[in-house]
Amino acid sequence: MKLTIKGNINKYYVQSLCMLFFPGAKFSEAEEVSENVPCADLEVTETGEGVFTRFSLGVGNETVTSENFIEYQEGFTKDRILKISVGRSVFDAGEKLMGVTPPWGILTGVRPAKVASEYLREGLGIQKTKKLLRSEYFLNPKKASLVTDVASNEAKIVKKLPENTCSVYISVPFCPSRCAYCSFVSYTTKRLLSLVPDYVDAVIKEADDVFSEIKSLGLKISTVYIGGGTPTILDAPLLEKLLSAVSRNVDVNELMEFTLEAGRPDTITAEKLQIAKSHGVSRISVNPQTLNDEVLQFIGRHHTVDCFFKAYDLALASGIRNINTDLIAGLPGDNFIRFSRSVDKIIEMHPDNITVHTFCVKKASDLLKSETDYFSASGGDTGKSIDYSQVKAKNAKYKPYYLYRNKNSLGNYENVGFAVEGSECLYNIFMMEEVHSIFGIGAGAVTKLVPGAGISGEKIIRIFNPKYPYEYLDSSIEERFAERRSRTESFFSSKKGD
Ligand SMILES: C[S@@+](CC[C@H](N)C(=O)[O-])C[C@H]1O[C@@H](n2cnc3c(N)ncnc32)[C@H](O)[C@@H]1O
Ligand code: SF4
Repeated sequence: MKLTIKGNINKYYVQSLCMLFFPGAKFSEAEEVSENVPCADLEVTETGEGVFTRFSLGVGNETVTSENFIEYQEGFTKDRILKISVGRSVFDAGEKLMGVTPPWGILTGVRPAKVASEYLREGLGIQKTKKLLRSEYFLNPKKASLVTDVASNEAKIVKKLPENTCSVYISVPFCPSRCAYCSFVSYTTKRLLSLVPDYVDAVIKEADDVFSEIKSLGLKISTVYIGGGTPTILDAPLLEKLLSAVSRNVDVNELMEFTLEAGRPDTITAEKLQIAKSHGVSRISVNPQTLNDEVLQFIGRHHTVDCFFKAYDLALASGIRNINTDLIAGLPGDNFIRFSRSVDKIIEMHPDNITVHTFCVKKASDLLKSETDYFSASGGDTGKSIDYSQVKAKNAKYKPYYLYRNKNSLGNYENVGFAVEGSECLYNIFMMEEVHSIFGIGAGAVTKLVPGAGISGEKIIRIFNPKYPYEYLDSSIEERFAERRSRTESFFSSKKGD
C-alpha cells in the first residue's frame, strides 16, 4: 500500500488503522505504484482549538475522501484528540470504499480493555463507558459491551491483589511438531529437541537465581506460569526436575495459582499430571483448537479429537483444580457449522476456563508459505463463530475475564478468556492489566518491572532474555544474571520513602 503522511502523527498508528481494511499490507512511499495497489494520503493540521484531518483513500479508479475537525476537550489529552481525529477519517474512508465495518472501530491496540478500565477508574460507570467506546472509538455495541464487562470483571480481581506481589513466567519453547498456523518461537526438529535436557538445566539455574532475588526484594509471588511451546514435551524425569526447582524455592500452597500450559494433548500422560499435581500445579491447559479431525490434520496438529478427549479425562482424574481448553475460530478448513459444534461440545464438558482465539495470520507461520491468501478484512463467517462462542459461554454462565487482540486476526476479531466465576486465570489478568512485575525465566522470556503502588517513575522496564534456546544456552549466565539483578534492584530501590 502507498501511504503518504503530512503532519505530526505516528506512522505506525496510521499503518495499523489502514490494516483494518487491508490486512497484511506492506507500506511504501514510492511515487510509482501499480494500478491495483491501494493509495492513501493523510494530512493532519493542529490548530490552537483542535485537530483537522483529511484522508483520501483510493483503489483502482475509485477514491474516497473523509475530513473532520475535532476540538480539544477537557478530560482528553491533545494526543488522544489527534488519534481520534485521524482514526475517524481513516475509518470513515475505509468503511465507504471497502464496505467493511471493523468491529473494534479505531481501537487498534492489543489491550482494548485498558481503555475501558481507564474510564471505569475515572468513575464513568458501566453504561457511560460503553457509550463512550461507541461514540469516540466507533466500537460496535457488542464489542463495547464485551470489553466493558471484561474490564469490570478484571477490576474486581485486581482490587483484591495485595501490595508487593509479583508473578513468575517460565518459558519452554519446544513442541513435538510445528502447527502450520503458529509463529511462536518453538523448536521442533529432532536435532533441536536434543537440546531439551541442557535447556532444563539452564532454566533451573536461572530459576534459582530469580527466586532468591525475589525473596531478597521482599516480594511475594502470587502466580507462576509455565508456558510454551509445549511444557509437557518434557519427559517425566525432566518435568519432575523442572517443577522441583519451583516447589523447593516457593511455598506452592501459598500461591494463588500455578499453571502448567501443557497444551498439546499428545504430550499429556497420567504420570506427568501426577508429577504436576504433587508439585502444586493448580491449573493446566489441554487444547483441542477444534474438534474436527480434518481441520486438525490440515493445520498439521498431529493429534486427533479422540486424543484430546483422552488427555482431558486424564486431567480431570488428576485432581488438578482448574482446566483450560483453547479453541481457534476461523481456522483454514473450518467453518461456522463445524466451529459451533466444537463450542457446543466443549461447553457440555464444562471446563473451568475456555479461551476462544480468532485465527490470526502470522507472518512467520508455515501457512503463509503456501499460495493461498489467508488475509481477510471481513473475516468471512469468523465473526459469526466468535459471536456464537460469546453467546453460548454467557448462557452457560461463563464470564469473559480476559481479552486481547492480534494484528492480522481474521476480521479484526478478538481472543477472549471465559471462566466459571472464581476460576479466572489470574496470571493472564495480572499480565494483561500490567498490575505487578513479572519475572521471566528461559528463552524468549521478558521480565517486566511494573511501577505499582509505592514505586516512583512511570515507565514499565523490560528486560529481554535471548529469544532462541540456542542463543539462551550460549549466553553468559553471569552477565545476564548480573544485568537483571542490577536493573531490578535499582528499580525497586526507587520505592517511595527508601
Ligand atoms: C502459545 S500457544 C501454546 C499452546 C500449546 N502449545 C498448544 O498449541 O496447545 C497458545 C495458544 O495460542 C493460540 N494460537 C497460536 N497460534 C495462533 C494463531 N495463528 N491464531 C490464533 N490463535 C493462535 C492457540 O489457541 C494456542 O493454544
Ligand atoms: S500451536 Fe502450540 S503446539 Fe503448535 S507449534 Fe505453536 S506452540 Fe507448538
